[in-house]
Amino acid sequence: MAHEINNPLSVILQGVQGARRRLSPDFQKNIVVAQECGADLETIRAYLEKRSILRYLDGISEAGLRAAKIVENMLNFSRRNDAARALHRVSDILEESIKLAASDYDLKKKYDFKKISITREYDPHLPEILLNRTEMEQVILNILQNATHAIAEETHAKQRPRIILRASTDGEFVRIEIEDNGPGMTREVRKRVFEPFFTTKDVGLGTGLGLSVSYFIITSNHKGEFRVESESGEGTKFVIQLPLERSVP
Ligand SMILES: Nc1ncnc2c1ncn2[C@@H]1O[C@H](COP(=O)(O)OP(=O)(O)O)[C@@H](O)[C@H]1O
Ligand SMILES: [Mg+2]
Repeated sequence: MAHEINNPLSVILQGVQGARRRLSPDFQKNIVVAQECGADLETIRAYLEKRSILRYLDGISEAGLRAAKIVENMLNFSRRNDAARALHRVSDILEESIKLAASDYDLKKKYDFKKISITREYDPHLPEILLNRTEMEQVILNILQNATHAIAEETHAKQRPRIILRASTDGEFVRIEIEDNGPGMTREVRKRVFEPFFTTKDVGLGTGLGLSVSYFIITSNHKGEFRVESESGEGTKFVIQLPLERSVP
């Protein structure tokens, strides 16, 4: 997935670089072509300066470089977690992620996770399955952070803020559900939540990578399924299904 982002990104960055080069007085060719068009390069540059167009170009390359940096982090992330999988019970992973969310300082600045009522509905006979524990905790923590951010916006019907975590077996899968009573999502948002860089949050609070990286971890690294159910004003439920795999193939 990171490569699919890198290709259009390099077209953007090279395009901006090319445009800047063809506006530069350092190249004789630019001066000549401008004259052929009945203008002189200094006048063209003065116009672009005055209308802030050169600043727009700076903005595009800065944003492009920032996105490239995020992609690079993403690649490191998936390489680092190539580690072998081991047998785990998903309820243990959910519990560990709750602890991580409760001690997450950045999250607390926005809304204190500890103010949210947590309900656990775990099947007591959950089997252990093969998982990459670090990756799975990352996914669950992401979902809990998002739920907390959403709850910070508002809880629907003035209910007490709450998150329900469920874990059960469902045919050939272990099924995890995480439900919040935040404001939910519009159809437009719901359709795009797993897209890389899609975010509705302010700069600095959201990168739009939490759910796209999580989607990659669940579907590609764990051969599972990941989907969301949500309506505007009705809260949000994420559903993860992981194959009941118990031994290394
Ligand atoms: N529990 C939720 N309730 C409402 N909206 C959500 C929830 N979880 C995710 N979203 C929406 O999905 C978007 C993408 O989430 P994510 O990929 O984690 O990126 P980020 O959190 O950086 O914005 C969020 O910006 C938000 O609009
Ligand atoms: Mg997020």
